[in-house]
Amino acid sequence: MIYRPRRLRSTPELRKMVRETRIDESSLIYPMFVMDGENRIDEIKALPGQYRYTVDRVDAKVEEMLEAGVSSIMLFGIPEVKDEMGSQAYAEDGIIQRAVSHIKCKYPEMFVITDVCMCEYTSHGHCGALCRCGERYDVDNDRTLELLQKTAVSHALAGSDMVAPSDMMDGRVRAIREALDENGFVNTPIMSYAVKYSSSFYGPFREAAGSAPAFGDRKSYQMDYHNRREAIKEAILDVEEGADIIMVKPSTAYLDIIREVYEATDVPVAAYSVSGEYAMVKAAAANGWIDEKAVMCEMAVAAYRAGATIYETYYAKELAECIKQGIIG
Ligand code: PBG
Repeated sequence: MIYRPRRLRSTPELRKMVRETRIDESSLIYPMFVMDGENRIDEIKALPGQYRYTVDRVDAKVEEMLEAGVSSIMLFGIPEVKDEMGSQAYAEDGIIQRAVSHIKCKYPEMFVITDVCMCEYTSHGHCGALCRCGERYDVDNDRTLELLQKTAVSHALAGSDMVAPSDMMDGRVRAIREALDENGFVNTPIMSYAVKYSSSFYGPFREAAGSAPAFGDRKSYQMDYHNRREAIKEAILDVEEGADIIMVKPSTAYLDIIREVYEATDVPVAAYSVSGEYAMVKAAAANGWIDEKAVMCEMAVAAYRAGATIYETYYAKELAECIKQGIIG
């Protein structure tokens, strides 16, 4: 026998030496929910171990993440009042604007990314302004662009380090880039959720953010999960419009898409392991059916192996610990 692939697997040292995928905790992003109100931390039922924080109670969590070596967070806001045009998304004293300025003032070393989308702020729960198309309502793409521009600029003014549009409107990356540049934020990067599928894996998030659509679904703007080439089209369009980073979402069921986008573009690819992925691992682990830590590690490494440079996950702290302990990485 000439070829014995097992040779390179014979000791832990050798296995580590020939690893093809290297991971560093600096590539992790932790998603966090902040809400209006005072002095409250509420657990999210469908996401055990994840909470919604009022701005006056976020400090301990931010410090915990920094200590674990996770120096990037993505903020999602939960406003007290919602209206048709989602005005709290771009209000100067909105929940995200206050949370960002608080965190950036107190912890400048934390890289704060803000989700730019209307669904948490609109009374109807859709990701944009509505228009009437005959008998039914639809999301008005071009009117929504103005709202997204205002939202992104208000985040940057509050101190956001990077904006992440997740609404899936056409042309929004260019619109946001123009608005940021006009306001002097030429160096604020855009991480575009360019490839966001219409997915049932977002279920727990919608409970956490109270953002489930009041009627209909998101299929007219988020992508159909039967499609692969469409992902390349979306990614290339967003790069042309000025996206600095392209995100693919969800992660684990879309590893083929991560690889396609990695091959088709020359920007860093981020994979978002969404709420349903976390909830499934938690639930199976709580029943004693799987080894939580081992499965978490395997899912994360799979995303990096597929081509992700950045990994967003509710398990960011636990993964950082596994990387430090040399379990993965
Ligand atoms: C929209 C948004 C969603 C998620 C991130 N940004 C929900 C949706 O599109 O309905 C889902 C994230 C997750 O499930 O963890 N603002």
